[in-house]
Amino acid sequence: MKAYLVATLLGFLLGLNFIDFASSVGSKTYETNNGFPINFLNDLVNSDVVQRKISSRWRWEVWDVVPGTHAYQLYVFNITNPDEVEKGGKPSLQQVGPYYFKEYRYKFDVSMNLDLSVNFVRNYTYTFDPNDSKGSANDMVNVINVPFVIFSTLAAKYGSDTTKINQVVSALVASGESLVKKNVKVQDFLFEGMDVSKYQKYLNLMGPSTWVTDEFRDGRYGVLKLKNGVHEGSYTVDSGLKSEKGVGKILTYNELPSLTYWNGDKCNAIMGSDGSVFPPHLKTSDKLTMFEVDFCRSIDFEYAEEVQYKSVMGSKYHVGKDVLQDPSINPDNQCFCSKNNSIDACLKEGVLDVSPCQFGSPFVMSYAHFLDASPEYQQGVVGLKPDPKIHETYVTVELVTGAVLAFHKRYQWNIWIKPIAGIDYFSKFKSTIVPILWNDDIFKLDADKEELLMEELARQAGGMGGGAPQPSQSHAHIHIAMLIITALYLFRN
Ligand SMILES: *[C@@H]1O[C@H](CO)[C@@H](O)[C@H](O)[C@H]1NC(C)=O
Ligand SMILES: *[C@@H]1O[C@H](CO)[C@@H](O)[C@H](O)[C@H]1NC(C)=O
Ligand SMILES: *[C@@H]1O[C@H](CO)[C@@H](O)[C@H](O)[C@H]1NC(C)=O
Ligand SMILES: *[C@@H]1O[C@H](CO)[C@@H](O)[C@H](O)[C@H]1NC(C)=O
Repeated sequence: MKAYLVATLLGFLLGLNFIDFASSVGSKTYETNNGFPINFLNDLVNSDVVQRKISSRWRWEVWDVVPGTHAYQLYVFNITNPDEVEKGGKPSLQQVGPYYFKEYRYKFDVSMNLDLSVNFVRNYTYTFDPNDSKGSANDMVNVINVPFVIFSTLAAKYGSDTTKINQVVSALVASGESLVKKNVKVQDFLFEGMDVSKYQKYLNLMGPSTWVTDEFRDGRYGVLKLKNGVHEGSYTVDSGLKSEKGVGKILTYNELPSLTYWNGDKCNAIMGSDGSVFPPHLKTSDKLTMFEVDFCRSIDFEYAEEVQYKSVMGSKYHVGKDVLQDPSINPDNQCFCSKNNSIDACLKEGVLDVSPCQFGSPFVMSYAHFLDASPEYQQGVVGLKPDPKIHETYVTVELVTGAVLAFHKRYQWNIWIKPIAGIDYFSKFKSTIVPILWNDDIFKLDADKEELLMEELARQAGGMGGGAPQPSQSHAHIHIAMLIITALYLFRN
């Protein structure tokens, strides 16, 4: 009965055909919890009629379906002097690629909470596209033997018996493992995984670290294997229904309101959106803040310049200079040092030790080719040529709607090679941050969404110019909020 009543009210508010709506909502019975019907709100928001209605709002249109094309271009660093590196020499790197992967993004298990925030789980999948790649996924490269380095580092960190671990690493070396792995297929290095079955029998040395067990599952380890088709994380974000300034703001990540990786609240704060949506009516003095999963932190982008994106005027934002600033210059960054805020344990400008969020694996993130990093990192290897034109990271947004028009996120994945206490094999290596690959994560708004955006801009301009906007379109979000409040009111009683 009550569901019908709400449906009528709803129909009235949204100017909908009642039959239409009742057929999707009114005919269903709901279990109740504390007088409130479970799943009713979800069904409401997900029902076709409501979806059609709210989709007239730009940000609701982009909410569920990604409004453009994502590509993940990967460049791999091929080590051309593996034998020298094995003896402790400086790595000579040759960039190969791009290997082009089509990226599909899904939001799973979307549901709405009573405070109008939205929960979802993210899932990305990557499929190789030979047409847009330079080279084949079967290309052979010499790469840092990432699973070997991870295994040795974590065994030394978590294992109890150092002598035993040293013996195990020696046995692995005798069986053919080494710092550089020669002739690895690019696709195995990235997503498919290299054979690590010989490590299985030693995994108990890791103590309680089940992470390595996960990473080495199926006897294969790929640097990006667990990024593909796996739950990336669960989010609760502000829907913007209460205040549009909040739209997209991440409220919790994996059920927690802040991170636990870093040495301080400032560094652990989850700020901004996931980068797919920003609040409308932005000013160039506003920073754009987004949470970057690969960096395990939030990153600020600052306005740089106006750019034309197809028919839309966009604003280009660069990564803020202070984001990866040397902690001895920018004390705000000290809490990102994994070693208890002591300055000599911190890395310098332009790199971020992400081992705290990789269970101690020595991963370091930077911009492509160590762009904007301390020169000592570029000089630790041979073959890098940082160039802002091809390596910079930026986001282009349309300020009135907050719509993302395009972005290039160019992030480099590095492994920190250094002596590992108690393990003889690693004693000959100089402490060096060695690049293994960089990604150019690309987004371009689709042409049909560009049209929709132009309509939205025209409508907003019309509204501001005095012409009354169509209430059913411009205030759809208010209607949705009202109907939810109405529903709450009715069912609470
Ligand atoms: C990687 O470097 C090795 C050694 O120089 C070379 O034989 C191989 O062809 C390179 N791989 C690619 C994909 O260029
Ligand atoms: C590559 O191009 C061919 C011919 O144009 C096309 O049939 C094929 O679907 C393309 N492959 C991908 C993965 O896009
Ligand atoms: C992620 O999406 C892909 C493609 O739809 C699917 O095959 C895979 O099972 C999904 N993964 C999870 C953990 O839901
Ligand atoms: C340093 O790290 C240890 C162990 O992780 C912790 O117990 C201690 O509180 C930290 N000290 C500071 C000043 O953060």
